[in-house]
Amino acid sequence: MHNVTIIIDGKKYQVEQGEPVLKAANRAGVDIPALCYHEGLAAFGACRLCMVEVVAGGRKGLTTSCTLAAVEGLEVKSDTEEIKGVRKGLMELYLAEAPDSDYIREMAVKYGVKESRFASKQEKKKGAPEEKCVLCGLCVRVCNEAVGAGVINFIARGPDTTVNSAYQEPSDKCFGCTACADVCPTKLIKISDKKGSRTVETWSQTSVELHKCRICGEVVAPDPLINEVHRKLTDLPDDLKDVCVKCRRRYRTKKLSHMDMAK
Ligand code: FES
Repeated sequence: MHNVTIIIDGKKYQVEQGEPVLKAANRAGVDIPALCYHEGLAAFGACRLCMVEVVAGGRKGLTTSCTLAAVEGLEVKSDTEEIKGVRKGLMELYLAEAPDSDYIREMAVKYGVKESRFASKQEKKKGAPEEKCVLCGLCVRVCNEAVGAGVINFIARGPDTTVNSAYQEPSDKCFGCTACADVCPTKLIKISDKKGSRTVETWSQTSVELHKCRICGEVVAPDPLINEVHRKLTDLPDDLKDVCVKCRRRYRTKKLSHMDMAK
């Protein structure tokens, strides 16, 4: 790891060479809004909210800090009047895009926007469903890049763009891991666990079976997720498939053998 010095809003910071400026700024407590950034995923640069001004060689320009790599001597400004204006404009667009999201509404207020000049989907089309998605793409990227399940993607184009499973039908690729819901900033992805199965309602009612602990009967995890973990980590004892975390701990404490667990 090689450290470099960068300047954010006139203050010097030692950061890792090549790391996204947004990540370094977050760590330093510099307030830069972001909707489509997640440390565990490749930068996407979709929401444009993390815009900063870069000062280099006497020139300046705006760019997204999530895609800007830290290099020695880099100087950025995060709170100029121009940036504040850009953020406000973007927040108005997101407010129109996701008027039913508390998260977006609160974020907009924080950055000085109470109302949007733009019409929401409901205003354009009477009876349109509740809108909370800002198309940040985090759910798509976590499902495809990090989990490797490839259940969801962007569908349609322009104002009709949405996220869903292929052909908007239940998918048989889902592991039921809930990573999509965990990263969604507007918390719109609905998942319910009922009668031994997990249903991701938002992805066309995609459903997976839940596996129960053979010792205590509590849910261990979704079946496809357990199978995928065991497929990738081939040295895991098969017994672990069927035993919940609590019973595993008990097993370790008592130092029982796998055979004992089966009793
Ligand atoms: S967080 Fe940088 S563009 Fe969205």
